[in-house]
Amino acid sequence: MAPFIKSAPRSRRIVAVLAFAVLAYVLIVALTARSIRGHVDVLSYVDPLIGTVNGGHVFPGATLPYGMAKAVADARNHAENAAGFVSDDSHILGFSHLHDSGTGGVLGSLRSTPRIEGSVRARPGYFAIGLSNSVYTEMTATAHTALYRFNFPASEEVESDGVLVPNNPLVLIELTDLANTRTGGYLEVFPDSGRMVGNGTFRPSFGTGNYKAHFCADFQGAVIRKSGTFTQKEVSERTKMLDERTLSGISAGTWIHFARPPNNQIMARVGLSFMSVDQACRNAEQEIPDFGFEAVVQASEQAWREKLSVVQVDPTGMSRDLLKTFWSGLYRAMLSPEDYTGENPLWDSSEPYFDSFYCIWDSFRAQHPLLTIIDPETQTRMVRTLIDVYKHAGKLPDCRMSFTKGYTQGGSNADVVLADAFVKNLTEGIDWNLGYEAVVSDAEEEPEDWTVEGRGNVESWHKLGYIPSDDKQTFGTGPKTRSISRTAEYAYDDFAIALMARGLGKTDDEKKYLWRSNNWKNLYNPEQDDQYQDETGAMVGSKFKGFLQPRLLNGSFHYQHTRLCSPIYEQHVCYFDTRYDTYEGSPWLYTFYVPQDMASLISALGGRDAFVERLEYFHASGIQYMGNEQGFLPTFQFHYAGRPGLSSYWVRQYVPAQFNSSINGIPGNDDCAMGSFAALAFMGFFPVAGQDVYLLTPPLFREVSLRTPTGGLATIRNIGHGPADAIYVQSARLNGRPYTKNWITHDFFYNGGVLEFVLGRRESSWGTGDEDVPPSLSTGL
Ligand SMILES: *[C@@H]1O[C@H](CO)[C@@H](O)[C@H](O)[C@H]1NC(C)=O
Ligand SMILES: *[C@@H]1O[C@H](CO)[C@@H](O)[C@H](O)[C@H]1NC(C)=O
Ligand SMILES: *[C@@H]1O[C@H](CO)[C@@H](O)[C@H](O)[C@H]1NC(C)=O
Ligand SMILES: *[C@@H]1O[C@H](CO)[C@@H](O)[C@H](O)[C@H]1NC(C)=O
Repeated sequence: MAPFIKSAPRSRRIVAVLAFAVLAYVLIVALTARSIRGHVDVLSYVDPLIGTVNGGHVFPGATLPYGMAKAVADARNHAENAAGFVSDDSHILGFSHLHDSGTGGVLGSLRSTPRIEGSVRARPGYFAIGLSNSVYTEMTATAHTALYRFNFPASEEVESDGVLVPNNPLVLIELTDLANTRTGGYLEVFPDSGRMVGNGTFRPSFGTGNYKAHFCADFQGAVIRKSGTFTQKEVSERTKMLDERTLSGISAGTWIHFARPPNNQIMARVGLSFMSVDQACRNAEQEIPDFGFEAVVQASEQAWREKLSVVQVDPTGMSRDLLKTFWSGLYRAMLSPEDYTGENPLWDSSEPYFDSFYCIWDSFRAQHPLLTIIDPETQTRMVRTLIDVYKHAGKLPDCRMSFTKGYTQGGSNADVVLADAFVKNLTEGIDWNLGYEAVVSDAEEEPEDWTVEGRGNVESWHKLGYIPSDDKQTFGTGPKTRSISRTAEYAYDDFAIALMARGLGKTDDEKKYLWRSNNWKNLYNPEQDDQYQDETGAMVGSKFKGFLQPRLLNGSFHYQHTRLCSPIYEQHVCYFDTRYDTYEGSPWLYTFYVPQDMASLISALGGRDAFVERLEYFHASGIQYMGNEQGFLPTFQFHYAGRPGLSSYWVRQYVPAQFNSSINGIPGNDDCAMGSFAALAFMGFFPVAGQDVYLLTPPLFREVSLRTPTGGLATIRNIGHGPADAIYVQSARLNGRPYTKNWITHDFFYNGGVLEFVLGRRESSWGTGDEDVPPSLSTGL
């Protein structure tokens, strides 16, 4: 799940909601279906509406891959509209152009208009909706510009409250965000050209500080009759400009009253910038000089097609729903972080600048490793961004949005993102010495405010090897909670740093960080059982013993309910404002988080069989929660106990039952991560982020191929694919040679090759030997 602060709900950043009002009755322009020549267009399998209810918070509007402009209709559903639109019957507030996809959060409310049921159309680069004011609005986007096409009824007069009135469209631009955080700003309408410009200062939705956003809107298609401004107090035709003094209240904006458009359409082009109004206008003029809607849609489709063309699948035996689940997941993996290069007002740099790392706690596990394979160029630019943030802001972010520091949920997991890129040889333009300096800074130097960067309790981390739940002294300030989850994550982050140290030949550092990566052991309480009293007073639980537990400064263990913050026991008490020792998960869950040394964990928990029994119980009992990113890796951790078949089994319990093509087909906030998980599960490999390790399960496809950076193909092929229960690998061949390891390295995706699985209905001995399981620190990684 994405972050959540209960006391201060998160929200969306949005500037200049383009609202409109026309007194007219319904007109729905039927969209012509796109023709697909010869082969099936993968875009026809992308359904941007998946995850627009049920807490998925997916942005379903028009955007380029990683595009800054994200245009959609904003719905008045406070619980669900974190990304603007919601697939329900809530009224529409207007259209806005800056969104994030898939985050957590809750929003405020504005004016609204009912929608026309069944009128929504969404596909890559295009979104459309009809409203009861009889305007049918279509939208598309380039990198920094949203383009709207408002379609009006073809009549001189329209009915309004039983009265016929002239069909004269009114367009309002309102300077606001859904959370009503705007302070100050400026707005102006130029009566002759109809251009509207403005800017405002807004607060980020899960971070500190504020940011400024600028827009520049131009219109085409109708003669301007009148123009002016409005505030909560008055509507004025005389006043054409509002500034800090006059922009009072939450609601304020500019308006134009048009004559009836001769072809019943008005185009609105909204340029965006974080630098200046001038840059917003320039962006718009350069990107969409001629208001050509179809051309923008086609360019956007082409951009998406190209991104998705890295992957080819054999659809034999796959339902349309499964194909939609896969391609839509892959599509969502490339919605954010967003490319704001050239739009960063904070520092001058020739480095790329991506924003909306929202949050790395969610994205480091699946999304970034997936991008390393399907879009290494962009992942490289994201890594360069992170290192440049370190250079100019002083620390790597754990979460960053809207040019501000977001809240840190657990460890300093950008360390894992950097290590992952490092061990997979991403190099182009990356200053790895500076990158190493950045991760070492996380490990060694506690910042003044570790709420938003770095780590807290660093002194205890170094001296005691764990975060005491009652730690007193820390150099900086931050929430002194989450001692278990922070200990587990800091240990893994240090392991990631050790791998970088090794690659850079820093032997002493390597030793130091490998040593610290064992610190999870310090919170392992072998005596802790899983027994507790239910509401009736009866003792319930399981027979399992040995869990990560909070520990005091004096060394004694303290108790936290082993199931607290799991779906079956008080799930919602471990968000950012928690007073507990785990973050968004239970001690049960965090006890499995030892990706650096699963071999040690397995022996601590009683050996392979006991571990497998426990992990199966975890999945079967409901303690596991797939709606949160931490649930991903435990689905595959059977591999470490030599039971890759069980990973294959559990993947198929979750896909498609919890990841599917329905509008509610995502179990939690997408964060671009749920889509990544689904895509990886379909393709048959899951990354152990930070390591050069992918855990193998048979793809759901008969065959899948990924284009490699070297121009080759990495193909995974199932032999005996078809029967629903033939999910177990019997034997494998890599480039024609027998392959018994249940994992593979990045070399396969870099240089290409053919990996063939022979499938069967029973678990086999494939991948079960000591030498077949993925590496662990204690067994000589
Ligand atoms: C908003 O834009 C105007 C006009 O370009 C400019 O003078 C003003 O400084 C901007 N305000 C902010 C807060 O950037
Ligand atoms: C540590 O402190 C706790 C709480 O004050 C106390 O119950 C426990 O006995 C102490 N342990 C040691 C080893 O002193
Ligand atoms: C699709 O996924 C959602 C979210 O996980 C789940 O609630 C729903 O039952 C699934 N639907 C189907 C048809 O499997
Ligand atoms: C990365 O490069 C090193 C040294 O050139 C090489 O040994 C290693 O196999 C490469 N790893 C990958 C994953 O390509």
